[in-house]
Amino acid sequence: MKSFHIITFGCQMNEHDSERMTGILEEQGCTSSSVAENADMVILNTCSIREKAEQKFYSELGRLKKIKDERPGLKIAVAGCIAQQEGANILSRAPYVDIVFGPSDISRLPSMIERKRSWSLPVVDVAGDPDYHRKRIPTTRTDRLKAWVSIMYGCDNYCTYCVVPYLRGRERSRLPLEIVSEVRELAGKGYKEVTLLGQNVNSYGKGLEGDANFPSLLRMVDDVPAIERIRFVTSHPRDLSDGLISALRDLPKVCEFLHLPVQSGSNDVLKAMNRRYTREDYLGKIMRLREVLPSVTLTTDIIVGFPGEQERDFAMTMDFLEEVQYDGIFAFKYSKRPGTAALRHDGHLTDDIKEKRLAQVLDLQRKITSRNNEKLVDSLQEVLVDGLSKKGGTLSGRTRGNKAVNFNAPAALIGSLAMVRIIAAGMNSLTGHLCE
Ligand code: 5AD
Ligand code: SF4
Repeated sequence: MKSFHIITFGCQMNEHDSERMTGILEEQGCTSSSVAENADMVILNTCSIREKAEQKFYSELGRLKKIKDERPGLKIAVAGCIAQQEGANILSRAPYVDIVFGPSDISRLPSMIERKRSWSLPVVDVAGDPDYHRKRIPTTRTDRLKAWVSIMYGCDNYCTYCVVPYLRGRERSRLPLEIVSEVRELAGKGYKEVTLLGQNVNSYGKGLEGDANFPSLLRMVDDVPAIERIRFVTSHPRDLSDGLISALRDLPKVCEFLHLPVQSGSNDVLKAMNRRYTREDYLGKIMRLREVLPSVTLTTDIIVGFPGEQERDFAMTMDFLEEVQYDGIFAFKYSKRPGTAALRHDGHLTDDIKEKRLAQVLDLQRKITSRNNEKLVDSLQEVLVDGLSKKGGTLSGRTRGNKAVNFNAPAALIGSLAMVRIIAAGMNSLTGHLCE
C-alpha cells in the first residue's frame, strides 16, 4: 500500500483523528493522495452524531464501491464513530469494505493493514486501546499556523439525545505534561494558535493524580513561549467554573471566545435532555462571564424538535436567543440515534415541525449575528493573519473572537498578528483596514 486518501465527516475531533491517521501512515512510508481515484486505500472517517451524517457516509461508500468495481485492488477502510457503532455489521451492508476500526484503535492501523495483506477476510478492530490517551500519536497537520491538540477523550455526560458516550467511551484525560510538551513542539515548528479539544473540556483532569484541572492546564499552556493564541472546545455549561472565567480574564493568550452549547431555552426540555442545568443557571454564568469580559464572543448549539418539545418550549428557546444575543449558533433538528435514551421518550415530532422550527431559529440568529457584527465597525481588532483571502481584500485572518476578517495588506504578514480597524460587517465576515 503506497498511497492513501482520507475523507473526513463530522467534528474537529474527527478532523484531528484524520491528521493522526495521516501521521501514522506517512511514518510507514505511505503518501497522502488528494483524490480517491488515485489512491491504493481510501479511509472514510465517519460521524454518527445525526442521521444525516450517516446518510452522507453511505452515499460516499456507494461512490467508492463503483471505483472498486473498476479497480478491485483498491482497499476501503471505515473509521470513526459509525465504525465504532456498527463494527462488523458494516460488512453485511458493504461486504467490499476491507478494514473497520474505531476512534481509539487508530494507533493499530499499520498492523491492521499488514493483517489485511495476508488475509482475504475483512479486518474489524473496534475493541478500543485502553492506553490510547497515554500515547503520543504521530500527526500530520493540515494547517501550519493553527493546531488542534486533544486533551481528553470520551464523555461521561449521557445527554439523552447523544450517541457520543456510547461510541467514544468514558472520559479519559491526557497528562498535563504530555499536552504541554506537544504544544512546545508545535511552537518550535512555528504554530501560533492551539485549540484544545475534548467533548467536555471543563471536566479535564478527572481521574488524573494530583489536582489537574482545566484552568490549571490553560495556565501551563499559556506559559509556552511563541504560542500566541489558545482556544478550546467544547465546554459543558454545568462545569463552567469561576476558575475558568478567571482564566479567560487573566491569561493573555486565551482568546475571549466561548462555545457553550445550551441546546434549549426550556427547563422542561433541558431536564428531558439530562443537561443538569437550568436556563437560569446558564444565564447566571453568562452574566458573570460578561461582567469580567464584556467583549467575550459567545456561540452555542441548539437542538430543535426534541421529543416532547411544545410550542411554548420552542418559544422559550427563541426568547433565550434574544436574551443572550449569541455571536453565532449551530442549530440542528433532533435526530434519533441508536441506543440513546431519548429514542424511548414520548412526543416525537414530525420532520415538518422540526424543519419549521429550525428555519425560525436560524432566521432569528441571522439578524442577531449581523447586528453583533455591525457593532464591531470602527473597532480595532487583533487579527492572526492566516492566508490569502478568497473574497474582498487580499488577506484574511481571525479576530480573537474567531470572526473572519478580510483586509488589504502585504502577504509577508501571513502568520503574524496584525491590528486591523473594522470598516464593514456582514453576516459571515468583517472587512478591515490594516493599522500601520
Ligand atoms: N440530534 C440533533 N443534534 C444533536 N447533537 C448531538 N446529538 C444530536 C442529535 N441526536 C448536537 C448537539 C451537540 C452538537 C455537537 O450536536 O447540539 O452540542
Ligand atoms: Fe454528547 Fe452531552 Fe457528551 Fe456533548 S456533553 S458529547 S452532547 S453526551
